[in-house]
Amino acid sequence: MTTPLDLAIRNATVATSRDVTQMDIGIAGGRIVQLGRVGPAAEDVDARGLIVTPGGVDTHCHLDQVEPGMGNGAETLATGGRSALAGGTTSAVSFLGQIPDHSLTEVLQESLRRGEASRIDYSFHQIINDATPEVMAEVPQIIERGIRSLKAFLTYDAARLNDAEFLEVLEAARRGGAMVAVHCENYHAIGWLTKKLLADGRTGPKYHAWSRPKVVEREATYRAICLAELTGTPIQVFHVSCAEVAEEIARAQARGVKVWGETCPQYLVLSEDDMDRPGQEGAGFMCSPAPRSRADQEGMWDMIRRGVIDVVSSDHSAFNLTGKNGKDAAGPEASFAEIPNGVPGVGARMPIVFSEGVSKGRITLDHFVRLTAANPAKLYGLAPQKGDIAIGADADLVLWDAGRKVTLDNAVMQHAVDYTPYAGLEVTGWPVATYLRGTRAMQDGEVLAPEGAGRFLPRGRYKLAEPSSDVPNGFTAAEIG
Ligand code: URP
Ligand code: ZN
Ligand code: ZN
Repeated sequence: MTTPLDLAIRNATVATSRDVTQMDIGIAGGRIVQLGRVGPAAEDVDARGLIVTPGGVDTHCHLDQVEPGMGNGAETLATGGRSALAGGTTSAVSFLGQIPDHSLTEVLQESLRRGEASRIDYSFHQIINDATPEVMAEVPQIIERGIRSLKAFLTYDAARLNDAEFLEVLEAARRGGAMVAVHCENYHAIGWLTKKLLADGRTGPKYHAWSRPKVVEREATYRAICLAELTGTPIQVFHVSCAEVAEEIARAQARGVKVWGETCPQYLVLSEDDMDRPGQEGAGFMCSPAPRSRADQEGMWDMIRRGVIDVVSSDHSAFNLTGKNGKDAAGPEASFAEIPNGVPGVGARMPIVFSEGVSKGRITLDHFVRLTAANPAKLYGLAPQKGDIAIGADADLVLWDAGRKVTLDNAVMQHAVDYTPYAGLEVTGWPVATYLRGTRAMQDGEVLAPEGAGRFLPRGRYKLAEPSSDVPNGFTAAEIG
């Protein structure tokens, strides 16, 4: 006699990364153990009329990121996790900052301690903003503890790496078998433009976009790709804002470089016009790269359909509009150069991509699954445990009412940040229930998962993070060490 299932989700339209099929899902011990017509279960959920997708995997969100002095921002893995579950995301990859006077290991320990309150499963990318020999010597231990991705910024005063330092990071990743995620904008070009704009009295939020036009992003993307090509290190270009930048990725992919491109909802539904709102209101839409034009949004959808951009993450950033961690921290007259960059979106990501993508007919359901769950899980070594509906995978599942219309506002988001840049956006298609490892974590907007429901996801070696075997100087990667 077979043991009864813990849970059966019956009569669902199940969207995996490959297809969409009418079937039941059988769950035991937190995992998917049967698909098709499944046996008796302790609990039955009739999902007739609903679509079931894998739980979202958001591989770029700043949740509980340890800040200088070991401080914290507005959003924790508990509050951000609440928002994630409300919006159909069950796993996230956040960041380990490099903190002065603390080793990488100390920051990892502190982040794991904070992670004990997480409501979703989580991992981290290790940011390197000061590639000293001491820090780089510690990187292999961090990678071996399951942090199998490094993050580099090519801009921002406090974080940017020059080319030589970026090469150190690429080399360390190649040696350790880790992916490198990179923020691509030209630091000096932004500084030069910013100086001119401020001298000319152009200080409002809308000039943020003027200070970092597309070419600034395109140049840094090309440079990052070339340096990664030189070392043979796999990279993902974070938050691609427009087709011209994606085109650099497409050209590199065509010559066999291991490079992938991510975009975010802000480049699909926000635009430079949002930063041109009265007074400082535009500050709430400031992120880097800057949102572009309406036409650029369509260009990004083309790049998504072509497969050049294969991941949509949120880049959830924990800046309030006002007060502590506020966009207004430098005062009401602050110039765009003093306003922190970043927008919240961990809860909005899945509904926006579902609505703008699937409901508007731009992409198929299985493509939605690849963009929001399967591809990010594969790219960052979380698959096959996460990101798809398959036998043996964790039972992270989202039940969608494809016809439900919801107008986004901050209460719907359930995060700790005091606003959403997506307020007023109507979406069609809404997550009505989310399961984390077979346990109901959200039902009809009520988040049921308690603090601590989430688990750390250490990541072992995986194929996509393996370095290219040949590098352009004619030596194999093994020969150059
Ligand atoms: O403006 C942004 N994107 N802020 C968050 C930090 C980053 O650059 O990813
Ligand atoms: Zn960035
Ligand atoms: Zn980011």
